[in-house]
Amino acid sequence: ATTAYERAFDAAVAADDRIEPRDWMPDAYRATLVRQIAQHAHSEIIGMQPEANWITRAPSLRRKAILMAKVQDEAGHGLYLYSAAETLGTGRDELLDKLHSGRQKYSSIFNYPTLTWADVGAIGWLVDGAAITNQVPLCRCSYGPYARAMVRICKEESFHQRQGYELLLALSNGTPEQHAMAQDAVDRWWWPSLMMFGPPDDASQHSAQSMAWKIKRHSNDELRRRFVDICVPQAESLGLALPDPDLRWNEERGHHDFGAIDWTEFWEVLKGNGPCNEQRITQRRRAHDEGAWVREAAAAHAAKHNGGTQG
Ligand code: 3HC
Repeated sequence: ATTAYERAFDAAVAADDRIEPRDWMPDAYRATLVRQIAQHAHSEIIGMQPEANWITRAPSLRRKAILMAKVQDEAGHGLYLYSAAETLGTGRDELLDKLHSGRQKYSSIFNYPTLTWADVGAIGWLVDGAAITNQVPLCRCSYGPYARAMVRICKEESFHQRQGYELLLALSNGTPEQHAMAQDAVDRWWWPSLMMFGPPDDASQHSAQSMAWKIKRHSNDELRRRFVDICVPQAESLGLALPDPDLRWNEERGHHDFGAIDWTEFWEVLKGNGPCNEQRITQRRRAHDEGAWVREAAAAHAAKHNGGTQG
């Protein structure tokens, strides 16, 4: 028999109402939101590393200013998302500790290296493009604080995606060497970007339940397909080829068919065996340790100004 609380929760989800922090919610609903929001936040702050690698070597002041603004935005996205996770009763320290000890994940995409300046364009166009395709439906997620964080993040992601596209267009229309550099970056970032949407639906452990709770509005494969359909005409406008010989329009399906994804690579990266996993976590732990004095100073300042209570 269900309790009145469970019936109220189910009715709210069915009516597309928002569940707010003070509302009763099933423990499993709370737990899956903490899992997803925390890992989304971890992705944002780890995602600062691949691009930060090029801030000091940007080819112009304009590109450097754009890239600094984007990396700073990613830190802010992490802040919104850790704050959304905290409304569910889990503090940032605990979540960061789980990230640092490998008990929570971050997006597989950030375990790949940024080898040339063109990678900054490929990340903006493809990685932030995939993030937008994934995040727009999350603006309608049943949990209020997560959905509202997504609205603000999606606005900033559009700038991220546009600047990446424009950067690649400049290279593609540049010298033959610049065009080749842009094509090489797209060749390396295309398949890992498709993996960002998660495993195939029949291998997705959480999708059914997350869709029943209206956390996930579309399946992994559905959003992946939507992303491919968006990218094909954009690649044509860029004058760059997507590295998939099986990619073609399927009139009766109304979508593009595309080649097989290397799921062995995906699961290996998730297990920690990607090109940059060790480097990313080591850098993250170092940044956390080196930032301890900032956290202590902020806490001391808060304590002094809150009449001695620990802020
Ligand atoms: N990288 C790492 N782990 C992944 C993954 C990926 N690309 N795709 C799936 N996984 C993990 C899941 O977290 C889950 O493991 P867990 O139980 O330890 O959490 C497992 O693989 C099975 O996958 P499921 O499909 O069952 O899991 P979900 O229902 O959670 O779906 C998801 C995965 C689609 C990524 C979903 O969690 C989601 O939509 N998350 C929010 C979006 C997000 O995290 N985006 C990160 C992209 S990068 C970014 O946003 C930065 C941008 O600014 C550039």
